[in-house]
Amino acid sequence: MAAEKNLRGETSELKVALGRRYHFAASHRLHNANLTEAQNQEIYGKCNNPHGHGHNYTMEVLVSGPVDAATGMIANLADLDAFVETKVLNDYDHKSFNDEVPAFREVVPTTENLCIDIFQRLKSFPQATLERIRVAETGNNSFEYAGEHTEDTLP
Ligand code: NI
Repeated sequence: MAAEKNLRGETSELKVALGRRYHFAASHRLHNANLTEAQNQEIYGKCNNPHGHGHNYTMEVLVSGPVDAATGMIANLADLDAFVETKVLNDYDHKSFNDEVPAFREVVPTTENLCIDIFQRLKSFPQATLERIRVAETGNNSFEYAGEHTEDTLP
């Protein structure tokens, strides 16, 4: 990471993290085509309902980087918002994961797998380092993914 000048003009590499929250609504059916109907029923219960069901998801994106000496910011929020909208929200919001998001044709669209897919989509954000994705499916369930040192791939 390049050294930055801090507010007093001193060279600094202090990293600060920026978290931003986004919302999307989408539907899914938890079903693994490699398992029998009975196994799917047993594992996923009512989430295996053939017609699917929806959630109002909350997604938190955490990025980090040095504070730019001129702007006092890690990254411009408008740039982050535009990037997230293009890379994730346009494909996810008001969609059926199983039917409309190719990454989930073969992969079960659990919130764990959403975290991994979102991380892959956002890790190329040019202005800061993507640290972590957190997705809450309901008020009671949330999942986090912070990437791997090797290539991030869905199972
Ligand atoms: Ni569900």
